[in-house]
Amino acid sequence: MGNTYHRQRTERPPPPAGCPVHPTWSPLDDDYLADPYPIATELAGEPVFYAESLGCVVVSRMEDIEAIFTDHDTFASTIVQDPVFPLVPEAQAVLAADDFDPVAVMSNRPEPDHGRIRSYTRQGFSSRRIRSLEPYIRRRSRELIDTMIATGSPADFIEAFAFPLPGETVFRFIGFPEGDDEILKAWCGDRKAFSWGRPSPAQQMEIAEHMLAYWRYCRAFTASKRDNRGDDLASELIDLHEANPDDLSYREVESIIYGLSFAGHEAVTALMANTLISLLGHRSQWDEVCADPGLIANAVEEVLRYDSSQISWRRITTGDTTLGGYDIPAGTAVFLNFAAANRQADVFPEPDRFDIHRANANRHISFGKGVHYCLGAKFAKFETQLVTEILAERLPSLRLVDDQQLSYFPNITFRGPSRLLVTWD
Ligand code: HEM
Repeated sequence: MGNTYHRQRTERPPPPAGCPVHPTWSPLDDDYLADPYPIATELAGEPVFYAESLGCVVVSRMEDIEAIFTDHDTFASTIVQDPVFPLVPEAQAVLAADDFDPVAVMSNRPEPDHGRIRSYTRQGFSSRRIRSLEPYIRRRSRELIDTMIATGSPADFIEAFAFPLPGETVFRFIGFPEGDDEILKAWCGDRKAFSWGRPSPAQQMEIAEHMLAYWRYCRAFTASKRDNRGDDLASELIDLHEANPDDLSYREVESIIYGLSFAGHEAVTALMANTLISLLGHRSQWDEVCADPGLIANAVEEVLRYDSSQISWRRITTGDTTLGGYDIPAGTAVFLNFAAANRQADVFPEPDRFDIHRANANRHISFGKGVHYCLGAKFAKFETQLVTEILAERLPSLRLVDDQQLSYFPNITFRGPSRLLVTWD
């Protein structure tokens, strides 16, 4: 049980004594999903409270979130891949299969093992390796834009571009065969609902079956790579395992592949979409980046602050501690509210203003902090910057279709529209 990748939360401790309790606040409310920021900002007056809906203490101030991330002994990351809400017994039974046994490797693995495992990915995520993806991203972007233009305006930018590209890029990086892209993307969607959503009992059953299939696929894929290496991350990890079999286990390699195939995908899709929404919604700033692509790097940082694709993360206390002056017992789940911290007025002046020139835009917390700082941060930024540059050059007349109603998949953490209609001249 100790290092199980997805654990089931069986008990929900009562609210910490003395901590304010919010009986209704929920990041799954329709109005929060549509626009979390006004609600998140209201929390400035109540920076630490217990949310009945989640069974978590919600922490909203930047300094508190940073302190939590930095103190990984007291605030463990072991729950970050667990379902927020208990699964129905039928779904649990599916996942009780003997061979559903991924182990926690990075985001959810404590020290010192986390550091040991993460060190094996350093080479794979080097700047040189990430930059080597540029020709692939350029070629696929060109093809996808050509198809979008040929299909005609208006187009759904998610379907035409932002959904296919990041999955394909990270899957080629890992080494998955092209023919498997569609099924992998579908499984990633299931995983989002599984760990961060609130699926119905019937959906949970279906999702559990897909999670099992996804894990079995990752195992079969790793075995096939073991017998047939290529120039990809999976082959490199297998080489590293064989050179250090007592330090990096084969199961850990399989589990890294399972973890990365999810982590590297939809958050980037959503970041690309949020980048277009922010830039096209502030036309003069889009025109500026079209005229000077050198502005794009800071513009993407500002999107990560202003409307990130990840607006929360979780921790659990390993011992008694305090937060915001309240005593918090061991075993308390903590919801880190990035949406509030990234709009905190004493950190970011005029926080609700989108400004690609903001001097401290990169002070956002969207990639976390400390030992678990996002392994793919450079990857995600490189890809989003490059794609924004390509779009700005190719389609400077790009516009959002007026009066469209954006909808967001109900979950507590990831934020990006399901569809985004764009048009051009
Ligand atoms: C915009 C896109 C992305 C966002 C907003 C994002 C955000 C995050 C956050 C908040 C964390 C947790 C940090 C912490 O606990 O301190 C994290 C961890 C992680 N991310 Fe990302 N991520 C993105 C893209 C990616 C990509 C593209 C990859 C890989 C290709 C990736 C791989 C990982 C991994 C492996 C971890 C766990 C690291 C560890 O525990 O050592 N992420 N990410």
